[in-house]
Amino acid sequence: MPGNAISGDGSARAPLLEVRDLCVSFPSAGRMIPIVEHVSFTLAEREILGLVGESGSGKSVTAMALMGLIDSPGVRITGSALFRGQELVGLAPRELRRLRGGQIAMIFQDPMTAFTPVYTIGWQIDEQIRAHERISRRQARARTVRLLGEMGVPDPVRTAGCYPHQLSGGLRQRAMIAMALSCNPVLLIADEPTTALDVTVQAQILELVRALRGRHGSSVLLITHDMGVVAETCDSTLVLYSGRVAETGPTGALFARPGHPYTAALLASIPPLDGPRPERLPTIAGVPPAPLDRPVGCAFGPRCGYVHERCRPAPPPLVPVGPDQAAACVLPTEGRPLPPRCPASAPQEGPA
Ligand SMILES: Nc1ncnc2c1ncn2[C@@H]1O[C@H](COP(=O)(O)OP(=O)(O)OP(=O)(O)O)[C@@H](O)[C@H]1O
Ligand code: SF4
Ligand SMILES: [Mg+2]
Repeated sequence: MPGNAISGDGSARAPLLEVRDLCVSFPSAGRMIPIVEHVSFTLAEREILGLVGESGSGKSVTAMALMGLIDSPGVRITGSALFRGQELVGLAPRELRRLRGGQIAMIFQDPMTAFTPVYTIGWQIDEQIRAHERISRRQARARTVRLLGEMGVPDPVRTAGCYPHQLSGGLRQRAMIAMALSCNPVLLIADEPTTALDVTVQAQILELVRALRGRHGSSVLLITHDMGVVAETCDSTLVLYSGRVAETGPTGALFARPGHPYTAALLASIPPLDGPRPERLPTIAGVPPAPLDRPVGCAFGPRCGYVHERCRPAPPPLVPVGPDQAAACVLPTEGRPLPPRCPASAPQEGPA
């Protein structure tokens, strides 16, 4: 499982965030719809964990639940999320606000979620800094301008004076990242931070995320549907399918020897890192089930080429498929593990 990351000196890193059995359900038409089911993972100090899965798999709901940011009426959140030993599930809103923007920061999928439209970008970042540190308005603004500059924002002084709607999508994204990093968070949750940005900006943003770990020892939960981004950036990977964990493990091992047919199918649909690019890449036929239609057994069953009777009675539990790697599939326990992937398309080691 992720969370047992090994640092450069070979020692195991301490856990920063321990999530156990996180479930999130929303009410609909008189019943509760389970969106996220029994998600567990551990994020170690200085670890970058990639949370991947198709659209609708529950990545954002998981992140928003951890941050205490789901305010839908009737939502039910159960399980545990220990941040440095402090329980986040059920924590009072005041306590959560104190953590957010200070020790824990989030880059939202939609930059407009992070900013209010009626204040300038600079004012909002200044305030965030001043809410957690006793510094003057002038000092806060100097830090805001420096951060915007580090994010590659041209003319940061002028940009700080702009309202969110006056900026392009790419600039808003960078400003949001500047705000998220302004207090040097111990934990950064980044929800698709590079989607909708061009490749060059994407690379710069990922570099900034890595630099945050390097400079401040921060840990990052990086949400993406891009396995290429995971391969380049993440020490470990957690694959979600239809609100459930399909597979977890060190990125290098999981890419080289996926234990779950869904992980293998996701990996088969990305171009190889080296060698000739195939004319057509395979896609995963079908779509994930709607939460209301999720099968009783393995949720991937209707799309899985290996489905058989043992997959149908109940969701398969996570079983070990390698050191620190586990997959929710019946095949490993049946002695039928998936074949390793072509070495050319798998990173040899995690990026840490
Ligand atoms: N407030 C809500 N009330 C009811 N259902 C919701 C709510 N928020 C999200 N959902 C549902 O939860 C499921 C998971 O949504 P989520 O936004 O977490 O997916 P995601 O993995 O982040 O997808 P994407 O890659 O498109 O961002 C979806 O079916 C979505 O419709
Ligand atoms: S449990 Fe069965 S249906 Fe699910 S991924 Fe494994 S083989 Fe496929
Ligand atoms: Mg999302």
